Amino acid sequence: MVQDEKSIVTPWEVSGDLDYAKLIKKFGTKPFDETLTNKLAKLTGGDIHPMIRRGLVFSHRDFDWLLSHIESGGDFALYTGRGPSGDTHLGHLVPWFFTKWLQDKFDVELYFQITDDEKFLYNPQYTYDQTIGYAYKNIEDILAVGFDPEKTKFIIDSQAGPKFRKLATEISKRITFSTVKAIFGYNESTNIGLLYHPAIQAAPCFYPSIIHGRKIPVLIPAGIDQDPYWRATRDIAKKMGYYKPVALHSEFIPGLEKGGKMSSSNPNSTVFTTDTGKVASKKVNRAFTGGRATIEEQKRLGGDPGICNVFSWYRSSFEEDDTALQKRWDDCKNGDLMCGPCKMDLADRVVLFLEMHQSKKEDVADLIESSIIRV
Ligand code: TYM
Repeated sequence: MVQDEKSIVTPWEVSGDLDYAKLIKKFGTKPFDETLTNKLAKLTGGDIHPMIRRGLVFSHRDFDWLLSHIESGGDFALYTGRGPSGDTHLGHLVPWFFTKWLQDKFDVELYFQITDDEKFLYNPQYTYDQTIGYAYKNIEDILAVGFDPEKTKFIIDSQAGPKFRKLATEISKRITFSTVKAIFGYNESTNIGLLYHPAIQAAPCFYPSIIHGRKIPVLIPAGIDQDPYWRATRDIAKKMGYYKPVALHSEFIPGLEKGGKMSSSNPNSTVFTTDTGKVASKKVNRAFTGGRATIEEQKRLGGDPGICNVFSWYRSSFEEDDTALQKRWDDCKNGDLMCGPCKMDLADRVVLFLEMHQSKKEDVADLIESSIIRV
């Protein structure tokens, strides 16, 4: 858990001005550098995902070790997750599309945890039935990303099977109150369900080893807000006879309004996968940009794409072509591109994406039951 005067980054809250170089230091992770990119490219036939090319995957734990492990013929499983506290938003989808790319490149299993218990325990306003309901709605969004249905398994915490529960209990015996207090900031008034949750979120790190009856490391692509869980898990992995989980951390996609990441708690700043095209378009057209006060000024002085949320959205997900992205940056800086058309173009791309995503969701409804693992 990292909290200073400018920002808060915990598994439950991310807000303020995020300085990623500082987060690396505070979380004690390593920067994702060019050596890693080159090593990865050797294993993917030279293909590198835009999130890596553009520095959006900024930090890691032991990814260099995992690449050497793969080079020498070892396999691994992917693990990521979602806390179902409402509808899915576009910010969630960004690391999931990256996870799909990893699954496609390495042809590996993905264990996707849905922490309906955590969201129930953390949010006073939810009943358990509500978060369980969101779990199913969120799984539709996740499957619509296009993960391999044969190799993707959802662990819904409220329905996890006996092997999973046994594993979580074994983990919980090795994590003390003083550890979770130090890592998560828990105190005497934290409910005891939340005190146990780190064991539940750690369990998928070792679950593939249990399922396959041999040691398999996991790679976790996620935001750095979830890293405290991996710290706690890494401390006990060796003692329990498993590999330490490997993590990749990606940047947070900002909301449309000024400041902070895209988050369900601010619906005006956030595009949900359930939004209609009209609603989404309206939100995008009201976005905070790096534009000047007047068109005349912007033509003369240029805009600032470096602080612009609209540019951020192009960079993270709505412009795949690096040359076109660079041109957008230059045209903005030179005063040749105004915010109005830039926002309208983004709104059109968002609407098109939503239409495609919503129609894919209809196609995956049949896959949900068979994708849930309950052993
Ligand atoms: P949750 O539901 O808060 O977040 C799910 C994933 O989405 C990332 N994320 C974002 N990424 C980019 N831009 C944003 N604006 C944005 N907002 C959220 C989060 O970092 C996370 O990767 N406790 C977890 C559920 C979980 C999990 C996991 C997540 C269980 N096991 C393993 C990741 C990996 C949770 O509530 O996530």
